[in-house]
Amino acid sequence: MPVPLLDLKAQHATIRDEVVAAMMQVVDSQAFILGPLVEKLEREVAELSHTKYAIGCANGTDALLLAMRALDCGRDDEVITTPFTFFATAGTIHNVGATPVFVDIDPATFNILPEAAAAARTSRTKACVPVDLFGQMAPIEQVMQALPGLPIIEDAAQTIGARRSIDGEWRMAGELATIGTFSFFPSKNLGGYGDGGMMVTQDEGLAARLKRLRMHGGAKQYFHDEVGFNSRLDALQAAVLSAKLPHLAAWSAKRRANAAYYSKAFAGIDGITVPTIDPANESIFNQYTIRADRRDQLQSFLKDRGIGNAIYYPLPLHLQPCFAYLGYKPGSCPEAERAAGEVLSLPIYPELTNAQLDEVIQHVRAFYGR
Ligand SMILES: Cc1ncc(COP(=O)(O)O)c(C=O)c1O
Repeated sequence: MPVPLLDLKAQHATIRDEVVAAMMQVVDSQAFILGPLVEKLEREVAELSHTKYAIGCANGTDALLLAMRALDCGRDDEVITTPFTFFATAGTIHNVGATPVFVDIDPATFNILPEAAAAARTSRTKACVPVDLFGQMAPIEQVMQALPGLPIIEDAAQTIGARRSIDGEWRMAGELATIGTFSFFPSKNLGGYGDGGMMVTQDEGLAARLKRLRMHGGAKQYFHDEVGFNSRLDALQAAVLSAKLPHLAAWSAKRRANAAYYSKAFAGIDGITVPTIDPANESIFNQYTIRADRRDQLQSFLKDRGIGNAIYYPLPLHLQPCFAYLGYKPGSCPEAERAAGEVLSLPIYPELTNAQLDEVIQHVRAFYGR
């Protein structure tokens, strides 16, 4: 039985009536850009993230770009981040004219190492972008302590609704950062039926600026305080996302249950390291990512047997050709480089049946002769 890496049709089948009704409301209103449904979603995401403000935008990449512009990151500035992430995290640093500074990751969680971020700080450092990778938060309070006074943009594209216990209190992804950013790309735990993104903040001034920046830099139509972007969330996406949001907690819980099932089954297999979740974190498992001996062979073995899988990410960003101008050499971020050679993500989506989970496990076991 083939098992896809992700099956969006299986999820759609469970919510079709709610989502189609929400979409038809927008179609009938013929009001497609921003408007009351986007504002409703902004209120809902702010509430979920324990933030005062949420501002919708066109996608998670723009959310980062707008956040950097709102914090005045630009020419002559450095922005510290992790090389083990999706390209957008660093591409946006480059695109605001700043210099990405890559520091290594914690090999257990794949998230940025706070002490490495602290060591990379210079007089030109303007911000740090920790990424909440694969569904678990980076140690945001440690990053903030390691970089006192520095604005933090938390790239929570993969991690909406994840939380971390800090001093005995649950803190949500996006809550503590200067600006937190989300993506509603369809493969995310809360995915739209197209592109979408959101920025969250506790700061009224930043919220107002982010709102201006997503509309060509003007608070009032045809008057522009600064040059911004066209990066609006459309009402159809907001309607879909608001219809899906009440299901998010249950979907993420099912992903955690799937992860626990895999990790138990893989525990005894030499050659596999199951994901490590920091005990302070509750992950939403946007990905279930193992480290595997003979990873490339395992990948083709699974592929040949119809088991979906993917390598997130095969080449760390500090070694990408487009960043050759920065001068990083192999060995500069050894843990990110090792992870790139060992990781493999397996199907984890909430609609997986027990039979499908067992099918994945059986083939992984077979590869290691168990
Ligand atoms: C870590 C990370 N940052 C940023 C993005 C960019 O989001 P989007 O694809 O919505 O532009 C993504 C998602 O694809 C991501 O995984």
